[in-house]
Amino acid sequence: MSSKDAARSELQEQFIAVLGHELRTPLTALHGYVQLLHRQLAASPDEMVYGLATRALQQSRRLVGLVEDLLDTARLENRALTLELERIDLRSVVDGAVETVRSVAAKPPIEVEVDGAILVDGDSRRLEQVLLNLLKNGVEHASESKHIDVRLTKRNGMAEIAVEDQGPGIPEEELPKVFSPFYQARPRARAGALGLGLFIAREIVAAHQGSLELRSEEGKGTRALIVLPLADPPASGGPSTGDIGPRS
Ligand SMILES: Nc1ncnc2c1ncn2[C@@H]1O[C@H](COP(=O)(O)OP(=O)(O)OP(=O)(O)O)[C@@H](O)[C@H]1O
Ligand SMILES: [Mg+2]
Repeated sequence: MSSKDAARSELQEQFIAVLGHELRTPLTALHGYVQLLHRQLAASPDEMVYGLATRALQQSRRLVGLVEDLLDTARLENRALTLELERIDLRSVVDGAVETVRSVAAKPPIEVEVDGAILVDGDSRRLEQVLLNLLKNGVEHASESKHIDVRLTKRNGMAEIAVEDQGPGIPEEELPKVFSPFYQARPRARAGALGLGLFIAREIVAAHQGSLELRSEEGKGTRALIVLPLADPPASGGPSTGDIGPRS
């Protein structure tokens, strides 16, 4: 490693440490207090105060999400993101992510189609994060879609999860770039998005020996496809843990 690389790596480690502790610790506490206040104020007769608390909670949740995404990106760049692998049914991953998005966004409606139990050796929290990022993209970038379809199936000996919308799509020349960190295909009107969602999602899927691809047609919509290896049959050994980082 050259001295320049070593300095960069040290800087990244410091960045992770600052993000992960100095920033995240008070922010997590603050978020907890805001959640408590919001719950307390639900019974308040003053609707304006409750409305303000709801907005504070939304912004606080967004800030936590941004810091977590920055931290994940720094960890990925530094190969310091660890998976906790276990045998999981992808149905619960899909259900968890869909419920979360439904609870914060009333539309477009999310329609789910599932082909029965689909077992993989994976990190359920991280895979749910992947699906959340794709669903949030549907809600945020394709809000005019009639519905967002999530389909979980087995095909060619692999598990597949497709997330499809009928939004504005992504121009063909932009498609390969949207997986780069901090890249956004259109100038964003709304603050608070970093262009990290697809980068993080693809890295997490790659760390599961899977792939994440987007197909999109302008004016028609976007389809994201996650392909993951099915769990090994029980006789051939259990899951292990592994570090993940960007592929070279
Ligand atoms: N379903 C979609 N429909 C249209 N455009 C999309 C869709 N998904 C992603 N994009 C485009 O790809 C870009 C990158 O997506 P990505 O999820 O990485 O970042 P983001 O959504 O802008 O921000 P973040 O996910 O960090 O909040 C988006 O800014 C948007 O331009
Ligand atoms: Mg996104």
